[in-house]
Amino acid sequence: MKITMIGAGYVGLVTGACFAEFGFDVVCMDKDENKIKSLNLGIIPIYEPGLDSLVSQGVKNKRLTFTTELNKSVGTSDVVMIAVGTPSRRGDGHADLSYVYQAAKDIAAAINGYTIIVTKSTVPVGTGEEVSDIIRKERPDLVEGIDIDVASNPE
Ligand SMILES: NC(=O)c1ccc[n+]([C@@H]2O[C@H](COP(=O)([O-])OP(=O)(O)OC[C@H]3O[C@@H](n4cnc5c(N)ncnc54)[C@H](O)[C@@H]3O)[C@@H](O)[C@H]2O)c1
Repeated sequence: MKITMIGAGYVGLVTGACFAEFGFDVVCMDKDENKIKSLNLGIIPIYEPGLDSLVSQGVKNKRLTFTTELNKSVGTSDVVMIAVGTPSRRGDGHADLSYVYQAAKDIAAAINGYTIIVTKSTVPVGTGEEVSDIIRKERPDLVEGIDIDVASNPE
């Protein structure tokens, strides 16, 4: 099974490395070019005990790769996980979901067959419906219940 992780931060990188350890093929995608460059050089941008060895093992086994290009992996993935940031919004303190919505739009453009989209970011109840709506609006060619499903797997 192939998984694309959108967002290679604390949650995305750790989750991606663990799934690679379980034997899945994982592509960690992030729009931060410096982060991806570092990861491709074997430099782990965050501290998490044991993560460096998990990542290097995954890379060595060719089960864990890193990219800035979403198009390259989403179209061939069974599962796409959204693990982008949801910072508190100035003023009202609510989660800023703009990164999640942007990720949904980016995923929509790249889907190429049945795909399960999983929200891993911390999001309010109802966000899964919104992600589904965004993808269906962007891709009216998808058929309800056949081409995508949206699941929630909060960190
Ligand atoms: N860090 C934790 O311990 C923790 C715990 C529980 C829940 N969470 C939740 O998990 C989510 C992710 O948190 P984090 O700490 O991993 O954040 P993070 O800031 O470390 O990582 C988010 C990554 O997403 C990338 N990104 C943003 N928009 C993108 C896009 N459109 N395409 C590709 N990449 C994109 C950013 O460049 C960044 O590298 C948040 O919702 C957070 O609230 C985090």
